[in-house]
Amino acid sequence: MDVQSIRKEFPVTERYAYLNHASTGPLPRSTAEAMAGLIEKRSMLGNQALAGGEDERIKSEAREAFASLINARSATEIAFTRNTSHGLNIVAAGLPWREGDNVVCAESEFPANVYPWMNLKRKGVEVRMVKPVENRISIDSVTEAIDGRTRLLALSFVEFATGYRNNLAALAELAHEKGVLLSIDAIQGLGVFPVDVQNTPVDFLSAGTAKWLMGPIGFGFLYIRQERLAELDRVISGWRGVVDWADFFRYDSPFRDDATRYEEGSLPPVFLLGAKKSVDLLTGYGIENVARRVLDLTGYLLEGLEAKGLEVITPHSRESERSGIVSFVPKGDPVQASETLAEAGIIVSQRGRFIRVSPHFYNTEEEIDQLLALV
Ligand SMILES: Cc1ncc(COP(=O)(O)O)c(C=O)c1O
Repeated sequence: MDVQSIRKEFPVTERYAYLNHASTGPLPRSTAEAMAGLIEKRSMLGNQALAGGEDERIKSEAREAFASLINARSATEIAFTRNTSHGLNIVAAGLPWREGDNVVCAESEFPANVYPWMNLKRKGVEVRMVKPVENRISIDSVTEAIDGRTRLLALSFVEFATGYRNNLAALAELAHEKGVLLSIDAIQGLGVFPVDVQNTPVDFLSAGTAKWLMGPIGFGFLYIRQERLAELDRVISGWRGVVDWADFFRYDSPFRDDATRYEEGSLPPVFLLGAKKSVDLLTGYGIENVARRVLDLTGYLLEGLEAKGLEVITPHSRESERSGIVSFVPKGDPVQASETLAEAGIIVSQRGRFIRVSPHFYNTEEEIDQLLALV
């Protein structure tokens, strides 16, 4: 990978050592230009900017891009959403819960993957929170939490605070064996690690584009396995979800029988275009290559932190459990440490007593060295 030429695609590198993709990824130059171009066109041309089927083309290309990113069987398994939470809520609100059912989640999950399930308490659904052991969500603990009334297992691909990467294949196997559904919040891993929903059969996968996919904030998608569509009630209804949406005087059109029926109204073309551009950029380099590069960078950082004798939060005894996130406890006050880094142009997140560093494939070892010198 020619990192120096890749960096030209990332204007953010001119100002910062940007190591904060677990918070928000920067827009690549080509994405920003495409989005700005469409905004300009909309301003100049009004609806003519999207005439001649342009709006539908933008939509279908974005849908195809997401589908192929996760190797979905069909693009019709993809519904566009506002964010990760939106997708998870479509699942939580749509499944046919019975009083006494339970959802297995974990204590280390980001709240986006907790509130939609907690909201089911009023339907008599229990939420069981697995306790991580040494910052890992063990398959044994998840297995223990599952019983005859468990309907859904809801976990993240990568845990937002520790960077622990869950073993999706093992979770899918467990879910299948126990007859429970598997829902994945993929925002902290998608764009870095390959996902193949055909080989690793998750039922639902939700992700916003704002982090590792380096797309727009306030946009995302939900993957719904085709076989699950019949079980997922349509609690959001709107004119764009029906077959004959262009027949404005008809109110009895059937809803589409695929994931697009959850898209109730107009979608944001600028975001659709931006998301597709960013996905194309990543897949253009190859997600396997991106993963290799990110693991090398985070491996380099882990070695540096250990050489300095700092406490590392991130589980890292096996590469398969690592991700783009490395969290550690800095010397002295963590708030002060993150401010010192920011003053030096090194952008990270402070989370409680630790610092979370999250480089992407265009970052360099030199940037990691700069950080190590200050912590
Ligand atoms: C694991 C995880 N899920 C979801 C989100 C964000 O959710 P949303 O896309 O709904 O804003 C974050 C971070 O902001 C996260 O770390």
